[in-house]
Amino acid sequence: MKDAAPSMVLLSEYRAPDWHVDHLDLCFELDPVATRVESRIRVRRAVGTEPGVALRLHGQALELLRLEVDGSPAEADAVTADDEGLLLTGLPDTAEITVETRIRPDANTALEGLYVSGGSLCTQCEAEGFRRITYFPDRPDILTRYRVRLEADAARYPVLLANGNRVEAGALPGGRHYAVWEDPFPKPSYLFALVAGDLTCVSDRFTTRSGREVALEVYVEHHNRERCDHALASLKRAMRYDEDAFGREYDLDVYMIVAVDAFNMGAMENKGLNLFNAKYVLASPDTATDDDYVQIESVIAHEYFHNWSGNRVTCRDWFQLSLKEGLTVFRDQEFTTDCTLFGAKRIDDVQRLRAFQFPEDAGPLAHPVRPDRYAEINNFYTMTVYEKGAELIRMLRTLIGRETFRRGLDTYFERFDGQAVTTDDFVAVMAEVSGRDLGLFRRWYTQAGTPRVTACSTFDASAGRLRLQLEQRTPPTPGQDTKEPLHIPLKISLVGADGDRLEARLGDGPEAQEWVLELTDAEQVFELQGLAEAPAAISWLRGFSAPVLLDAGQDTAELAHLVAHDDDAFTRWDAAQSLLRRAVIARVGEAPDGTLEATLIRAMAALLEDSRVEPVLLASLLELPAHRELMESFEHADPVVIFEVREAVKKALFASLEPALSRRQGDPGALDNDAFTAEAMGGRRLLNRILALRVTLGARGALEDAETQYREARSQTLRMGALAAVNESPDALRAELLADFEGRYRDDPLVLDKWFALEAGSQVPGGFERLERLLEHPGFRWSNPNRVRAVLGPFMAANHRHFHHPDGEGYRRIAALIEHLDGLNPQTAARLVQPLTRWRRLDPGRSTEMHAALEQLAGKRLSRDLADVVQRALAP
Ligand code: PHE
Ligand code: ZN
Repeated sequence: MKDAAPSMVLLSEYRAPDWHVDHLDLCFELDPVATRVESRIRVRRAVGTEPGVALRLHGQALELLRLEVDGSPAEADAVTADDEGLLLTGLPDTAEITVETRIRPDANTALEGLYVSGGSLCTQCEAEGFRRITYFPDRPDILTRYRVRLEADAARYPVLLANGNRVEAGALPGGRHYAVWEDPFPKPSYLFALVAGDLTCVSDRFTTRSGREVALEVYVEHHNRERCDHALASLKRAMRYDEDAFGREYDLDVYMIVAVDAFNMGAMENKGLNLFNAKYVLASPDTATDDDYVQIESVIAHEYFHNWSGNRVTCRDWFQLSLKEGLTVFRDQEFTTDCTLFGAKRIDDVQRLRAFQFPEDAGPLAHPVRPDRYAEINNFYTMTVYEKGAELIRMLRTLIGRETFRRGLDTYFERFDGQAVTTDDFVAVMAEVSGRDLGLFRRWYTQAGTPRVTACSTFDASAGRLRLQLEQRTPPTPGQDTKEPLHIPLKISLVGADGDRLEARLGDGPEAQEWVLELTDAEQVFELQGLAEAPAAISWLRGFSAPVLLDAGQDTAELAHLVAHDDDAFTRWDAAQSLLRRAVIARVGEAPDGTLEATLIRAMAALLEDSRVEPVLLASLLELPAHRELMESFEHADPVVIFEVREAVKKALFASLEPALSRRQGDPGALDNDAFTAEAMGGRRLLNRILALRVTLGARGALEDAETQYREARSQTLRMGALAAVNESPDALRAELLADFEGRYRDDPLVLDKWFALEAGSQVPGGFERLERLLEHPGFRWSNPNRVRAVLGPFMAANHRHFHHPDGEGYRRIAALIEHLDGLNPQTAARLVQPLTRWRRLDPGRSTEMHAALEQLAGKRLSRDLADVVQRALAP
């Protein structure tokens, strides 16, 4: 694989389809060993094309049994087979093409196309899985109506599902049965789905605001019947929210969700028939934590919201992926903010963005939100396309205002309903409704990298004027050496000495207390006038109004003032993060910064005593920047040193605050209930965080508290909180509780994943042997991505001492495991390999070792997915 230059798909080479597909009739004779697929398509040559222009049918890993044009076998010289599929020439302007293929679901370990999960047959077609089912123009700008007939053994597969409405069903000879489904909405092939299995259906109803009665159906394996309530309740909330907040209503008579065990991603928005990783459906208080509950709700909402942002209006080509994903993430973030987590949601999201998207944007895999080339599209389902994409939508809203933005969305959905469009189309609508020139804003879609914004201020007391001087600069990323300035909305406020917000005028604008500075140039100056007093602090980047790295040169006192007084939860938290980050950086450098640490201790003490600070916010305020994020603060870092210093800072700051921590910890007995409210969850979050902190401090009674909390817990949130708190403790208690947990959930794979994750992620001695034992555990399956991720993921993300073992053993072991996984599931292998791509940012010794492990891997026969990532990671 080493020298094979991957062939690139280029945005510049996009061409509208030469042929349209007017109808598709699919017939499946389902069987895990050999499924027969008959596809009949009516094709029509597009206006403006040459008569006889070739028709491309994509196909991969298919056995072709029959190919007919208008009822007769296709002429041999009119069909060319290549590695993309088939090319048909000499067709009349309209034709009916019949293709019969045979596929083998039980041998499909890649989990794309038709495959077996548990006892069910199911499909995954995004992005290019449909071509593993039949020969078809498998591109998102080919929209057509589907009629699907499924035939299968009635005992083994009593449930037969596909998109749309079931129009027919019945028994067949030989113990078989069939069902016919019709989807009235034309759709691209990536939204096709079918499921055949022995599943139970938990159902409910929803009445849309215009009075349509919708059946809601969640399909799960029989033993999981009791774990669907939360998913159904979440779905109903999401449907109501999309009507209320976005004016979007559901459009079919049935909405189905099927939970499958083996799934490469979180879930899939197939029209009317979502397929979900079971992890994002099943929940009960005994098995799922609050975080699981929140994630389930948000993934259910995300897939539901796709019905408009993705399905009704879809992507012209895969470069436009963020058109649906960025917008839908934005929509699900809004939903969780308004319905469940409120202010805490923004902090959680920014934390994730900084820990995962910023590093991506700063590393070898950096790419724009709208990439312009790819070797393998599977590798572009990234934090950049999803999360940064959502930030772009949010910035647009900030720039044009909420109401205009909402009108823009309405216009977008109306104008492009039933079409496959581009991110440019989206921005153009927003420009049109707002009357604003968003030409510069478009650069956010095409330019990769996280902009650095530096700011400084000078106050002229006699004139009552604050001068703000700003600069922006985006560092180079692979393939983009020079960067242009971006259109950056910076939302700011001024905080006075007594903690109140100050009034002023921006330029000749009206008196206000909050302003959006619009950066458009590399350097810019703004002036706030009419200030009665000098601001004690500037609250920059309120609500994280732009995905940038900001350096405003604020001193310790200014940041501490914000921690104490800022009324924007995000900037308040962020001020604490800045101080905490500095404390870590100082100690990595050489000596602790005594003044800084003393200030932090006072600030934390005040927060702990302040009963107005909500538990959920307090939990975030007490938390140090994540290890992953801290690593980004250094050009080259030793991951073990960063871990140790992070722990040392915790001890230095909180040792003297132990009594205050204990007072704020909360009573496990009172918090241990199944209330799914922000308040209840916030209380539990704080409880677990303080417990973990006290264990780290070696506080008296902390281990005993953890043990009691574990043993008495009724909710999984408290049980996991206690377990996570002792996971780095060398005490015998750790082994005892983990063994107890394993015994308790041995037969419950999704819960056992939590145990796999703790065992793999723990740095207590013996990490390599533990890793081996986990891979041999009877509950481990290479064929199930959740199991593989649960072991390999935390080993790389949290077990620094072993993954980053100085002699490179951790890297070599992981590389070997990834190579093995690649033989089964390339898509998951290409995701899991990513920590190995960060070699340039490590200390010299580890950098060499990681690079060597990656080189080794590059020398092997790899899938296109994995080869693409490895090659980009090694590129000079
Ligand atoms: N489109 C899915 C989602 O975001 C993600 C996905 C991509 C699932 C590719 C499977 C395969 O919601
Ligand atoms: Zn999505």
